[in-house]
Amino acid sequence: MNNTVKLHYIVDGEDFTRAGEASADVKKNLRKLGVPPDVIRKVAIALYEGEINMVIHANGGVIDVEVSPECISMALKDQGKGIEDVEKAMQEGYSTAPDEVRSLGFGAGMGLPNMKKYTDSMKIESTVGVGTNVYMTVSIS
Ligand SMILES: Nc1ncnc2c1ncn2[C@@H]1O[C@H](COP(=O)(O)OP(=O)(O)OP(=O)(O)O)[C@@H](O)[C@H]1O
Ligand SMILES: [Mg+2]
Repeated sequence: MNNTVKLHYIVDGEDFTRAGEASADVKKNLRKLGVPPDVIRKVAIALYEGEINMVIHANGGVIDVEVSPECISMALKDQGKGIEDVEKAMQEGYSTAPDEVRSLGFGAGMGLPNMKKYTDSMKIESTVGVGTNVYMTVSIS
């Protein structure tokens, strides 16, 4: 694989049953491209958490993924409520998920910490009332 492959997804914020579809499709594409399984696993975990966050906390958004021979770059952009204190949100166990979301099994406050853990770089830009952009990369070593 010499060229960069680009994947684009629109994440529906209303439909919980479809949450995770984008990360599942990325996984399928990475397998087809012959990306090593350990890299695919890290991308799948980080992207799934980011996608779920978009659905739960931001009413959906868009995901762009670029696959180059060196790395997988992911950009997740939403126009949700934004994150007031990013440092606090990054802490394990911190969650503002409401009860109805917790009853579905989300809201442990582990998504962002795991996104950090499974990627080689992660950057969050967020403005309250405007939205959130999350950028992550996983290197292919
Ligand atoms: N895209 C987003 N827009 C607005 N707020 C967000 C977004 N992503 C995360 N947050 C905020 O950061 C908090 C922590 O996110 P994190 O993913 O770690 O936990 P969670 O989604 O609450 O629970 P879990 O991921 O374990 O199911 C969230 O509860 C929410 O307040
Ligand atoms: Mg989460």
